Amino acid sequence: SKTFKVAIDGPAGSGKSTIAKEIAKIFNLYYLDSGALYRAFGYFVKKMNFDLFNEDDIIKALKDFDIKIIDGEYYLGDEKLGMQIRTPEIGKAASIVAKNEKVRNKVNEILKSLSKIHNVVIDGRDIGTVVLPDADVKIFLTASIEERARRRYKELLEKGKNVNYEEIYKEIEKRDIADSTRDIAPLKPAEDAITVDTTGKDIKTVVDEISKIINKKI
Ligand code: C5P
Repeated sequence: SKTFKVAIDGPAGSGKSTIAKEIAKIFNLYYLDSGALYRAFGYFVKKMNFDLFNEDDIIKALKDFDIKIIDGEYYLGDEKLGMQIRTPEIGKAASIVAKNEKVRNKVNEILKSLSKIHNVVIDGRDIGTVVLPDADVKIFLTASIEERARRRYKELLEKGKNVNYEEIYKEIEKRDIADSTRDIAPLKPAEDAITVDTTGKDIKTVVDEISKIINKKI
């Protein structure tokens, strides 16, 4: 039987992962974080002392990229991936490797094969457009850059990180441009996506709004 699929796309800091996790709980869906896969790969390339920009290095790294998802946790070989892939440095590395078509194919293959056996909610940039063009529900989350920078700043502060708001703002702005202007799988809403602006809304409000949309499709 066909699985039920929800795609949640949007820029950095739009609240995708928070919202997707809540939606997964409510509708009993398997949550997949596509950004975590790009981050894991960027982290691996750096760990191997490979060059993020070198095609041969990327191909070598892809051959040895041993990623597993167990109970919603991501593992690189035996290494459990947590905060070490959540740094701005790894965010940047993810954004660089994400431009590579072979890397995207690898990540998409993982996401697609899991979507065939589980009911899923996947968050990312190109889930509704490329990975799950047949998703039952496609949501595109947006929020102003100011709001997204504030959220990221608060999140990092709460994790005890020493952070600078201006730097985060600039980083988000730069990543938006990089993600939406790249040739393959640029960040853009699918034609049949429903855009939800989260600026000034709390998590519950956004989750309720999306739950209503999903309930109509069930
Ligand atoms: O969402 P997150 O910030 O964890 O993603 C890290 C980077 O991975 C993004 O900036 C983007 O360049 C890349 N990415 C992507 N396609 C996705 C998810 C993430 O290109 N579906």
